[in-house]
Amino acid sequence: MSKQILTGPVRPEHEVRAIETATVVNNHEVAEEVFITKFHSPVIARLVKAGQFVMVSFPGCFDPLLARAFSVSDVQGKNLSLFYSAVGKGTRRLSKLRKGDAVTINGPLGNGFPKLSKGERVYVVLGGSGAALVPILCRSAKRSGAKMTVFYGARTKRHLVAFKNHKIHHATDDGSKGYHGTVINLLREHFEEERPDKIFGCGPTPMLAALQRDFDGDLPVYISVETPMACGMGFCQGCPVKIYDGRGYFLACKDGPVFNAKEIELE
Ligand SMILES: Cc1cc2nc3c(=O)[nH]c(=O)nc-3n(C[C@H](O)[C@H](O)[C@H](O)COP(=O)(O)OP(=O)(O)OC[C@H]3O[C@@H](n4cnc5c(N)ncnc54)[C@H](O)[C@@H]3O)c2cc1C
Ligand code: FES
Repeated sequence: MSKQILTGPVRPEHEVRAIETATVVNNHEVAEEVFITKFHSPVIARLVKAGQFVMVSFPGCFDPLLARAFSVSDVQGKNLSLFYSAVGKGTRRLSKLRKGDAVTINGPLGNGFPKLSKGERVYVVLGGSGAALVPILCRSAKRSGAKMTVFYGARTKRHLVAFKNHKIHHATDDGSKGYHGTVINLLREHFEEERPDKIFGCGPTPMLAALQRDFDGDLPVYISVETPMACGMGFCQGCPVKIYDGRGYFLACKDGPVFNAKEIELE
């Protein structure tokens, strides 16, 4: 049985959130050191939208002490999935969880990507742990009737995760799968054939910077940043993102993590 605390019933839609004890439904290694963990988390699963994130902590655990941020990768009924690379203490601990183990999840947090509308054409560009967003973005496109094309790049075939039931254009730096070159060059080729109405991106900062530099001209580009976070809720001031014209800083957790690329300066 999951414990739930719903907060802020009169807050704006994207700020309604919960803290709940979520239990592991299953945990799979889907590529080398890359895992998808599915949690029973009924309240947060009901609230979350594409591009929002959660903070995950381990009850009674002091190492790591702080919660870790993860985009919600998918929602299926009362369950939500996280997709992550086991790179540090938190993600390694997550990767070792077994069915029935519990974690504390705080979310959904952040703004998420803009709502999609019927017939709208969206290009989605993903790399690294940004690939987490494939399932939830595809679901939201299907629900809204938007036409979404997904471009997903990695160093080699070994670093690409296969997403069943999703049509994806792949790019690898060594040409071992899909387009031989960067995902940005692949996007460029498609862009010349057909222009979308908007672009969404999530992945390593150089990839986001290239999107911002090369495509943010006459169509909106929205990028999701993965600035390291401590509280995830605007309290610690630990996740600054430079505002484009030097006016100061946004907070990635509160004002983002999705920004119109025009608004920010990537560092
Ligand atoms: C909004 C948001 C969404 C995110 N979504 C995802 C997601 O969907 N999937 C995902 O995989 N990640 C995601 N991240 C990134 C994830 O939160 C971080 O990678 C997180 O720090 C991992 O926690 P960890 O304890 O495993 O690693 P940490 O211990 O925090 O380490 C993180 C990185 O720092 C390195 N590091 C750790 N300690 C040291 C040290 N002493 N010296 C040098 N380097 C060190 C690690 O090798 C690793 O690369 C997201 C981040 C944000 C802000
Ligand atoms: S993580 Fe604390 S203010 Fe953003």
